[in-house]
Amino acid sequence: MEKKIAIAGTGYRAVTMFGRMLAKYGSEHRARIVALYDPNPVRMQAAQRLMNTEAALYDDFDRMLRESGCNTVLVTTVDRFHDEYIVRALKAGYDVVTEKPLTTDAEKLTRILQAERDSGHRVTVTFNYRYAPYATAIKEFLASGRLGRIATVQFEWYLDTVHGADYFRRWHRKVANSGSLWVHKATHHFDLVNWWLNQEPEEVFARASRQVYGDQGGVRGERCSTCSVKDACAFAFDWSDPVLVALYREAEHVDGYWRDGCVFSDQIDIWDTMTGSVAYSGGTVMNYALHAYTPFEGYRAIFTGTQGRLECGVLETVIPEGTTTFLERVQHRVSPDAAPATFPLASDGTDRFVFYPVFGGAEVIEVPRTIEGHGGGDERMVLHWLDADAPDPLSHRAGTRAGAYSILTGIAARESVAARRPVSIGSLVDLSLLN
Ligand SMILES: NC(=O)c1ccc[n+]([C@@H]2O[C@H](COP(=O)([O-])OP(=O)(O)OC[C@H]3O[C@@H](n4cnc5c(N)ncnc54)[C@H](O)[C@@H]3O)[C@@H](O)[C@H]2O)c1
Repeated sequence: MEKKIAIAGTGYRAVTMFGRMLAKYGSEHRARIVALYDPNPVRMQAAQRLMNTEAALYDDFDRMLRESGCNTVLVTTVDRFHDEYIVRALKAGYDVVTEKPLTTDAEKLTRILQAERDSGHRVTVTFNYRYAPYATAIKEFLASGRLGRIATVQFEWYLDTVHGADYFRRWHRKVANSGSLWVHKATHHFDLVNWWLNQEPEEVFARASRQVYGDQGGVRGERCSTCSVKDACAFAFDWSDPVLVALYREAEHVDGYWRDGCVFSDQIDIWDTMTGSVAYSGGTVMNYALHAYTPFEGYRAIFTGTQGRLECGVLETVIPEGTTTFLERVQHRVSPDAAPATFPLASDGTDRFVFYPVFGGAEVIEVPRTIEGHGGGDERMVLHWLDADAPDPLSHRAGTRAGAYSILTGIAARESVAARRPVSIGSLVDLSLLN
């Protein structure tokens, strides 16, 4: 059956990932975008142009469902609204594919789980990082059992001052919109760990702070475009990308959505520094850290088991010495020469991780480097979605159960930060809804 896709939320992700992928692979896989919905008509028209699609434009989501002839709904709106569109689409009788995070808090999650159960339709969550060849190779290795019983995971994620700063410019900067980076960003990381270990989180103890952005930097202006100190600011936004201009600057008069909000705004209430400990159903304990202002971007994951230790790490970007402006960092953020000696950026076309058996030795596992969207995950994920009959031996496909457990870890972390005590996952939702 041809996939006729209706998209809710026509921003950057819809255009630059799904739009491009469907333009490239849609006809071969019998899938096309038939309708777009976004409350900002100027952004929606720009999206239609940029995606080079003749999809019909709607200013009413329910009418789109009734009239467009779609059979699949793709949700790519702001995180806080995911639940609205997922639930309405399920109730109207559609399968849904949603961007991560599934949603932002436990009450919204409960509504989604109940609607999925009542409707009999399915929600797929787009965990693209699972599909990155490196993450897949870790999954394969751990599934082999060679580590023995996995006692601990050390997992650090690094966001640099290009990508990391971006979350402090716009809607993500408010917990109410994104659930904070504990949910918006860490949903990827918590999902990877759940999937890698084949375990579920049970309890979280966390701390978080703002060290660089928000009130830490002193308020400078509301937005870069009109800021009097922008020429001296290392974070001043750069508008040279025409896609950003079309989607945001030319559409901002409609809804007041600024793409270049000040990263030092005192309106920011998310954290840029997050650490926590997560206990899992199989007895593993993870120590996790996320920083949004590091000199490089990527992650390190170390698994210690009764039979050995697996040391993994991917470096996606490195900021070279001497970059003073945001634009310079955007242009030069992949610099193998500047990579830390302990964590080199692969310049020979491979990434690698190392298995150290407990009684000595080292085995290097090489993985071809993929630098395209999210470590090569985006394209592989879309192709797997489009080919419903493709085998799934490592369980890459993810639904609400995985979507829920990954955000529940972050929601529990948020509560733990506020309450200064461990928070159990079972205290947040009725876990029987996940069976
Ligand atoms: N999987 C990934 O790696 C990845 C990467 C980037 C973004 N995302 C996700 O994609 C989604 C969109 O992110 P983005 O960067 O494109 O954001 P964006 O701000 O560019 O786009 C969001 C769109 O939602 C629209 N919108 C605002 N309020 C709405 C409402 N009430 N109802 C419907 N639409 C509304 C906006 O007008 C905008 O067009 C987010 O959920 C984000 O987490 C995922």
